[in-house]
Amino acid sequence: MEAAGVVIVGAGIAGLSAALASAEAEDVCVIAGEGPRTSSSARAQGGLAAALSEGDDPALHAADTLRAGAGLCDAQRVRELTEEAPGVVAWLAQFGVPFDRDSSGRLALGREGGHTRERIVHAGGDATGHFITEALWQAAARHPRIEIRREHCVGIAQDATGRAVGVWTWDGARQRFVAARRAVGLATGGVGALFGRTSNPPSAVGAGVALAYHAGATLANLEFVQFHPTLWLGRDGEAMLLSEALRGAGAVLVTEGGPPLFADPADNLRTRDVVALAIARAEAEGHRVYLDATQVRDVAARFPSIAARLRRAGLDLASQPIPVTPGAHFLMGGVEADLAGRTSVPGLFALGETACTGVHGANRLASNSLLECVVMGRRFGKAVREEPLACTYTPEEPTWLLHPEQDEAALPELAPVLWRSVGLVRDESGLRAALVELEGMADRYPGSGAVLAASLIARSALWRRESRGSHVRMDAPAPVQAYARPSGMCKAHRAATSVAITT
Ligand code: SIN
Repeated sequence: MEAAGVVIVGAGIAGLSAALASAEAEDVCVIAGEGPRTSSSARAQGGLAAALSEGDDPALHAADTLRAGAGLCDAQRVRELTEEAPGVVAWLAQFGVPFDRDSSGRLALGREGGHTRERIVHAGGDATGHFITEALWQAAARHPRIEIRREHCVGIAQDATGRAVGVWTWDGARQRFVAARRAVGLATGGVGALFGRTSNPPSAVGAGVALAYHAGATLANLEFVQFHPTLWLGRDGEAMLLSEALRGAGAVLVTEGGPPLFADPADNLRTRDVVALAIARAEAEGHRVYLDATQVRDVAARFPSIAARLRRAGLDLASQPIPVTPGAHFLMGGVEADLAGRTSVPGLFALGETACTGVHGANRLASNSLLECVVMGRRFGKAVREEPLACTYTPEEPTWLLHPEQDEAALPELAPVLWRSVGLVRDESGLRAALVELEGMADRYPGSGAVLAASLIARSALWRRESRGSHVRMDAPAPVQAYARPSGMCKAHRAATSVAITT
């Protein structure tokens, strides 16, 4: 049997921050799957939000976050998150993250939707996630107390009391047990790939949600999936984000032939739920929507990765509007956790997008996700020191193990159902029909975490009979006071809080 003090599943920014922070006191094993370059973190363009400019304040950052969250944020945690943000930037800089600076050497701060101040720090112009992930990965790879394994986690091991005591992994040939003396941290990212059209990598199929559900953890707010307004779709079907920072720099949305999508240009920087819905409505009326960045000074130099990718497809960001459409981007819900990642299962932690801490409410404010990853990782590092030591022994295999090959087989059938009925705009009959299809898939693809995560999202969306933030129900188009609270679900009850879902 192999053992570490802490086992972390996932090598994005949440997992790597947690690994580095806990390695100050513990031996750490990172179950890295295909490695950091295939994580959602590595694709993050815009940046990380922190109140750093003159005239800005964490309280203003918190107020913007709460406004975007549409009544569902945990205000205390939002305060803590935004207060820690400037320290997060300093912590990352210690690992050599090359944040962009202006001509006088100060951090260059951008703007994104929903922010009332310039407060987005970025690196490489539009490659912030890549630079942060690389810096943390290099530090983790050099760290004498961190072991990195290119294996996949397929199950959470629990002792007789239910405490998480390790993980089962699969390397394509062999299944192994890795014991965790203090804690298991799940940082597997989100669910965007379930929807087919997404800014996320193919690995974002809800593995953490499925693993935690089977370990008995409480899940929360799974109905809140954020659709980013501006994805560009390549001919090969590959989707690329056109960062919201482009609109922050002055780009505007237009319809074919040039008329603006919004009468008031300021609406281009409204929160993502509002902008994505406006684009979806224009598309439903038969219009094509474009992002026009031709008026943005030095646009290709300021957004080099985006401009280069478009150039390879024969498009010029500086001189022509680029066609855009919304796509699945971020899961506000997830495994219910506090800001250190503690879940309802002893010894099991959830980190970053896998967790639902309540800081994003019903709609995440731009560039708060990388911030949350690092805040959680650092707090996790402190919290695990207080976890009691588990005895190390090889427990029985769990009754449910994740079968990644079943996810791969299920996705071509699953994604169209999710996009059609659990996507940007939902209603009861569509959600019920989707659930019936998903139940059939659960039989055909046993062990698929993707099918399980998809049905949990659909069940939560069916429960929330209102529209709020990113959750839009055509049959209940306004917020309803009775639903001004998080939804919750766990294997033992299999229902959202206090209201049973009947399908
Ligand atoms: C973007 O650059 O538009 C995405 C940043 C984020 O998801 O916060």
